[in-house]
Amino acid sequence: MKKVLIYSLILVGCFACNSSNQDFVLNNSNTMISEKVEALLAKMTLEEKIGQMNQYSGFMDFTGPQPKGGQQAKKYKDIEKGLVGSMLNVHGVENVKAVQKIAVENSRLGIPLIFAFDIVHGYKTISPIPLAEAASWNLSLIKRSAEIAAEEASAAGINLTFAPMVDISRDARWGRVMEGAGEDPYLGSLIAKARVEGFQGKDLGLPHTIAATAKHFAAYGFAEAGREYNTVDVGTTTLYNTIFPPFKAAVDADVKAVMNSFNVLNGIPATADQFLIRDVLKKKWNFNGFVVSDWDSVGELKNHGFAQDGRDAAKKAIIAGCDMDMESYHFIEELASLVNDGEVDLQLINDAVRRILTLKFELGLFDDPYKYLSKKREKETVYSQKFKKDILNIARQSIVLLKNNNQLLPLKKDHQQIAIIGDLAQDKTSALGSWRIASDDGKAESLVEAMQNYPATNSIRYAQGPKFIKGDVHFVKELNVNTTDKSGFEEAIKIAKQADIVIMNLGEHGFQSGEGRSRTKLGLPGLQQELLEAVYEVNPNIVLVLQNGRPLTLTWAEQHIPAIVEAWQLGSFNGSAIAQVLYGDYNPSGKLPMSFPRSVGQLPLYYNHLPTGRPNDPSQQDVFKSFYIDQQNTPLYPFGYGLSYTQFKLSNFSVNSFSESNEFKVSISVELTNTGSLFGTETVQLYIQDPVAQISRPIKELKSFRQVSLNPNQKKLINFLLSEKDLGYYLPNGDWIFEKGKFNFFIGTSSDTSLQAELNLQ
Ligand code: NOJ
Repeated sequence: MKKVLIYSLILVGCFACNSSNQDFVLNNSNTMISEKVEALLAKMTLEEKIGQMNQYSGFMDFTGPQPKGGQQAKKYKDIEKGLVGSMLNVHGVENVKAVQKIAVENSRLGIPLIFAFDIVHGYKTISPIPLAEAASWNLSLIKRSAEIAAEEASAAGINLTFAPMVDISRDARWGRVMEGAGEDPYLGSLIAKARVEGFQGKDLGLPHTIAATAKHFAAYGFAEAGREYNTVDVGTTTLYNTIFPPFKAAVDADVKAVMNSFNVLNGIPATADQFLIRDVLKKKWNFNGFVVSDWDSVGELKNHGFAQDGRDAAKKAIIAGCDMDMESYHFIEELASLVNDGEVDLQLINDAVRRILTLKFELGLFDDPYKYLSKKREKETVYSQKFKKDILNIARQSIVLLKNNNQLLPLKKDHQQIAIIGDLAQDKTSALGSWRIASDDGKAESLVEAMQNYPATNSIRYAQGPKFIKGDVHFVKELNVNTTDKSGFEEAIKIAKQADIVIMNLGEHGFQSGEGRSRTKLGLPGLQQELLEAVYEVNPNIVLVLQNGRPLTLTWAEQHIPAIVEAWQLGSFNGSAIAQVLYGDYNPSGKLPMSFPRSVGQLPLYYNHLPTGRPNDPSQQDVFKSFYIDQQNTPLYPFGYGLSYTQFKLSNFSVNSFSESNEFKVSISVELTNTGSLFGTETVQLYIQDPVAQISRPIKELKSFRQVSLNPNQKKLINFLLSEKDLGYYLPNGDWIFEKGKFNFFIGTSSDTSLQAELNLQ
């Protein structure tokens, strides 16, 4: 992201500063927020109201198509005129203060701006990419990670993050799967809640909390063929049961903003979809925060063939319920005349402005618009070492052990010749992942440095292999993925031959996933697969440490490589987290939040699919069943899968029902025993199936899980309690229903469950 210093321009804009505009709010600090909002609204002109609905990007970082020249000066003039409600991409105390000053001291009413930014997995201190964090299944650590991000970002002047992304995604071709919590609506809902609570804390008025945005509403994760910004066509059954639940969970957790998505959903662009925004979000779920468009998604209504010009686009978006326009300029340019011409009801504008002002009051911006702006606090907080313990902990817990034949892992600490191979292993930027806009290049700890500094006496040698990272990469086009230069092979093969163990650190560069990074191939990019096979020829004792932002197709590796570790992109403390897992100082406990396909042709792939009329019965020899003639149906690694260095056994499974307050309850218990020789953590997963219902229901659905840590030979009885709300589902019209009858209950340590029982609830 290009960074452009903007102070000078902003400061010039401040020539007429005065502070009297603040009097209005300071005198009203004890009255209720809604009364304050009404009083302020009554003073505002139509143009000032629409100004609150206008969000501009501040040119420090580009998170959308680059703006045309000449707009920068106009933007700051508009702030002065009270025609801007929020800025994105302005951060750092000095920058935020300079811009806030224009709004507060120069504009007629002195209404402070909200400073928004994509704090997706950290501000400067970077935690694992969200998909990786989801693999920890550790809700309190996920919440803690968001809390830390809020503390650091708020110290740099940020009030609102465009996170969490709560889009369910089933197609690893879509680059943005790295931003979400994977394929499961239940896990996704719990994580959405944890992240919202982490960012927002208990009181938004506190200086270390920030408001959150659930995005992208809705169905962006279902882009056809995984191609970025592509059309979505899904039925309402999938919308209500799969796509909506994490949004609903975020709303129930009091998320303050929701962002529209770019895509067309069933023929209507989401940004102008009344059903989505007004009927479901604002009415049915009673969401009282504000809805912000995505970057120019109001303008893109024209491209979708849904609006004939900017005026039409603004009209359709506001009528549908979009309250704030990010970077299309159509609200600020068109809404006033639409209201004056009677085409848009003033009440829609008032409603939007109320929502936006309410957040400004809740953030305490009217009490002190500079409350987030202490240079001293910024200096103490940004990159503070105090965050390391928790961020490193979540990084370790995000790692998933995919394979470990012959107990190749954990590594011995002495007398080993270890060869580390791969360009990613020495890179200090890639592991920060995508969407870490403010963080500085070269700030991630590399695997090579972590292994070299580890308290172990092994000899560590490193070979880069073919080079596909050239310096600091910010755009995927800067990567040398198509290199044919194999000159790095020789050294890699040489050190592999001499080693006891080879650690191959391969995968995607951090900028090969994220927005605008859809892929049609999901193998190891560039020459990495060839390198892996060449090294395997000379030394098969390989630990493959993968770093990637999405599921990859790893069929060859699964067949040949004895140990495979999924290490995603783990952020600032990437190297230490991996080294601790490789040496067994942290026994891996992560579980996949997305199914890993065997080949791209299987996508979309998800465990909670519906049954088909012709299931894939292996005893049936003909072709008239739902299968591929050239590939299995099953994933290479299923949802919920992940190994440990110890072993666990499940036994004594029991399922019973009873009735309480006129409602069915189901109690499930199972015993977990650590049968191995190391302390470890297992995630026991409970799935259900409603085998006969008014509509076809998934073959399995996650409904609860427990993370349990046990010493060798220790056992623990785990109890689950489900009620009708866990057993019911949404009909295509959006009504929720619980139907009596048979249910299946499954327990396992992945979605490929080992225990099953049936109950008839009558
Ligand atoms: C576009 C992305 O879709 C959205 O997630 C992000 O918050 C905005 N750009 C602002 O950067």
